[in-house]
Amino acid sequence: MAVSYPRDNKEDRAMRPTPAAYHQATAYDRRAMAPHSLDWAHQPSPYKSYPVREGVSLPDTPHLPTVNLQTVYHADRPQASAAPDLLALSQICLMAAGLTARSPHGSDYFYYRSAPSAGALYPNEIYLAALNDNALPAGIYHVGVHDRFLTRIRGNAGLSQLRATVPDLPADAAAVFLVSGIFFRSAWKYRQRAYRYVLLDAGHLAENLRLAVAAAGYPGRLHLDFDDRALDDLLGLDETREGTLCLVSMTGEGLANRPPGPPATVLSPSILAASRVSPAEIAYREIAVIHEAAKTVQATRQPVPAMVDVLGCSLPEGFGPLPAAAEPPDALGCADAVLRRRSKRNFVRKPLALDQLTWLLDLLCRAGRDPIARASVAVGFLAGQVDGLTPGFYLLDAAKRQMGLVWPGQAMEAMATVCLDQAWLKNAAVHFIFMSRLDRLGDQWGARAYRYAMISAGRLGHAVYLGTSALALGSCGIGAFYDDEAHRLLRLAPGAALLYLVAAGSVRKES
Ligand SMILES: Cc1cc2nc3c(=O)[nH]c(=O)nc-3n(C[C@H](O)[C@H](O)[C@H](O)COP(=O)(O)O)c2cc1C
Repeated sequence: MAVSYPRDNKEDRAMRPTPAAYHQATAYDRRAMAPHSLDWAHQPSPYKSYPVREGVSLPDTPHLPTVNLQTVYHADRPQASAAPDLLALSQICLMAAGLTARSPHGSDYFYYRSAPSAGALYPNEIYLAALNDNALPAGIYHVGVHDRFLTRIRGNAGLSQLRATVPDLPADAAAVFLVSGIFFRSAWKYRQRAYRYVLLDAGHLAENLRLAVAAAGYPGRLHLDFDDRALDDLLGLDETREGTLCLVSMTGEGLANRPPGPPATVLSPSILAASRVSPAEIAYREIAVIHEAAKTVQATRQPVPAMVDVLGCSLPEGFGPLPAAAEPPDALGCADAVLRRRSKRNFVRKPLALDQLTWLLDLLCRAGRDPIARASVAVGFLAGQVDGLTPGFYLLDAAKRQMGLVWPGQAMEAMATVCLDQAWLKNAAVHFIFMSRLDRLGDQWGARAYRYAMISAGRLGHAVYLGTSALALGSCGIGAFYDDEAHRLLRLAPGAALLYLVAAGSVRKES
């Protein structure tokens, strides 16, 4: 059955396929919020299901890596000597997207995962390309996060095509985790704006994957450039409903040692049909337009400046070094920080210690040092209550490990109002702010730059979530804001835009 498009209108047809145009077309405006009620009868399934259950069960993981969060973020190249076995892959899948909490839902439960997701809609799927036979028979698998089952989509045939579709795949890649997005899962609630959430969520998931791979002792690398059509085809995705968004490769012994397999075969239509998640799906034209345009990777990527340098904020007193901080407490390991992470909204008005802020900024510097994140996202924060820090709007220069005051003033309550009047946000100590010049990025890298920026913003937001989890603080991502009001409140330059916000601070102790 074909996807249905909502009634066409002039505005839809006029949207240019650029990051700035999509972001603007999906901006929230307090005076023009179209009413929308959720169609519960056609709520999308949060789990993908295939007609044939053929594959491998993930083994139980009695132990998870004990390394702490700072160490994982500090390690440039973790060293594991052996190729990952099935237990290591199982640990990584659990940390990346394991079911970590539940709440009653009718006669059953609703399950929450280790990575947050806007509206708990979980639009992203994970696939695993096993490139040697060490852990499981080489092939391409779908990762079932609910039943911990790897459904085999392809065997050896087609694996050699993976290298052709991902030009910077390391020669010694042993496994590749591929993250896709099923658009209607989020669009069911967020309509045209959903592409924002699908990408932010993908960034959170990718960061969990990257850290889980590193915590297991393997160098993990994020890939944002590949041949979308070839990969979608390899994974058996219905590209009108689902698209590959990013990859995390894991190096060990792998591709280099494997003789090339036979070419990919044509998959059964029932595999493609698994991308459908509701009997009544709506395909929003804005999403189709930006996603289609984003499939093109700019052939040559010129070096570009860091986004913090071109955002257009002037700092009256310039940047200075991050405040010196004591060593962070080793309270929580990386795995614990990931598995205990939750979105918390019960902030209390208690100032954050300057050390705590500095530890979070340190994680942001480390998460943001890859060239794509640096070039596509500028990180700032609204300090509301931080010991020894003037309230106001600050910018972080992640590469130089510096920060500076853009303007002083208490703006937490005003930002809570901007964020669709989510009043509890005013009690947070800090709002981390992820911004970009989407117009410039679009000129440099075309529509794909939207993925770079939003996935990077999600990754950076995830560092805040994990840092606060490790420090027994609370945090909550916020994708819902009136865009122009945010622009005005932050006094951003023309062309600059807020992408994402993550609130952080002390929360009420659970009894
Ligand atoms: C991209 C993104 C946007 C979000 N936006 C909001 C928001 O505007 N308001 C809110 O209360 N929670 C928001 N959340 C938090 C989600 O509701 C939360 O992640 C989800 O319910 C799952 O719960 P958990 O994070 O505790 O696992 C957002 C999360 C993400 C990742």
